[in-house]
Amino acid sequence: MKLVFELGATGRQMSYLPGCDVPKAALPEDASLRENMPKLPELTEVELIRHYTRLSKQAFGVNSGFYPLGSCTMKYNPRINEVAAGDPNFANVHPLQPADTVLGCREVIDTAEKLLCEITGMDAMSFQPAAGAHGEFTGLLLMKKYHEARGDAKRTKIIVPDSAHGTNPASAAMVGYSVINIPSAANGCVDMDALRAACSDEVAGLMLTNPNTLGLFDTNILEITEIIHACGGLCYYDGANLNAIMGKVRPGDMGFDVVHLNLHKTFSTPHGGGGPGCGPVGCKDILSPYLPASLLGEERKPDSIGQVRSYYGNFGILVRALTYILTLGSDGLQEASETAVLNANYLMHAVKKYFPVAYDHVCMHEFVLTLEKTKRESGVSALDVAKGLIDYGMHPPTMYFPLIVHEALMLEPTETESREALDEAAEAFRAIREMIDTDPERLHQAPVTTPIGRPDEVGAARNPILRYKPVE
Ligand SMILES: Cc1ncc(COP(=O)(O)O)c(C=O)c1O
Repeated sequence: MKLVFELGATGRQMSYLPGCDVPKAALPEDASLRENMPKLPELTEVELIRHYTRLSKQAFGVNSGFYPLGSCTMKYNPRINEVAAGDPNFANVHPLQPADTVLGCREVIDTAEKLLCEITGMDAMSFQPAAGAHGEFTGLLLMKKYHEARGDAKRTKIIVPDSAHGTNPASAAMVGYSVINIPSAANGCVDMDALRAACSDEVAGLMLTNPNTLGLFDTNILEITEIIHACGGLCYYDGANLNAIMGKVRPGDMGFDVVHLNLHKTFSTPHGGGGPGCGPVGCKDILSPYLPASLLGEERKPDSIGQVRSYYGNFGILVRALTYILTLGSDGLQEASETAVLNANYLMHAVKKYFPVAYDHVCMHEFVLTLEKTKRESGVSALDVAKGLIDYGMHPPTMYFPLIVHEALMLEPTETESREALDEAAEAFRAIREMIDTDPERLHQAPVTTPIGRPDEVGAARNPILRYKPVE
């Protein structure tokens, strides 16, 4: 497909601006004019519209089909969220407007804080972080400040289980901590002996997600957080998997001191590439003096870690998340979690006839398949199966994560999928299993229904071409 720069022709345009009816002003003397005109695309309106419509048809999103990207909770983003966020009273305000002219926005922030604190069992919250990983960074800074304020400078280590998302150790390292990686037990949960052995007066805290990235709820959680507190550390809850437990159990009641949420996962806001989302950080009272500066007119907290993002964070995302919470209400949020767990178990039972589940227990909101044996016996890898699923009209599941499962495919259907959609997905897995048994070579060629088959993914990641070079 051609790029927009390669379309149109010199002089072609779609300008509706009236001719200039005021005298042209001279440029200031010290300003210099560019020597050549910029090489901007010159197109008619219809050419432009067709170009972007074609492009939009090539993108796959939750609005196009099943998107079971494990750990990422790609649930449907209800339209009502967009209606609320598009209200001019929210969409047209300026962050520098006087506080008394934006009282409605202030109420959104206060209500969202109150409700999300209630959902998580925390006492205070900041909406500045722009994504989950940014929330991790912020939450760890709070923990660091806490230890520093107590003169406890020896605490330089963070314990992270080997099933954790890669952002956990990366955020700990960014904050200046070293990471103690502890193995998982045979049941996929925290190895309690390894946890006890890792504890010392050098430990600043633990980072954990529960349910974990295998989709398993760690029933030792109260003992885990007690062990960390007993050695003087704090407990950080990675809220990426909150969709499984809303209204059922709260991180605060599990013993966690600080939590981040991914509003773009659990609270049905659009996903964005690491910035346009919202990863609020909530904490217990012991950490609230260190929260990012709030800017909302009240006195600056002297011990705050400062700002981690400009203004109030991505406010429009907050409006969407609050709309979701208020639309569902507390019963609806509980039902969403129940259905997310039910859907995951339904799909797991349907799919495990064709591919083994890595930790075969009742799961929470997601589960992980292992294609290690399939690859050994047929040469077809998790990647090949993921590519094959594209030809059946679904987005591939998360691949090769968590790292402790070989040839992993992680599926999270979410509560927004119907039984028919889950049956269709299971049918795709059945058809692929049949293909592996009869004509495995076909899967090495998949996908065959997309404009591009197998791009050089490593090359694209390592040497991305991000700027168009005009042909001279
Ligand atoms: C378990 C877990 N933790 C943290 C993150 C990081 O969140 P974000 O992508 O919002 O930065 C993710 C992202 O997928 C995740 O799955």
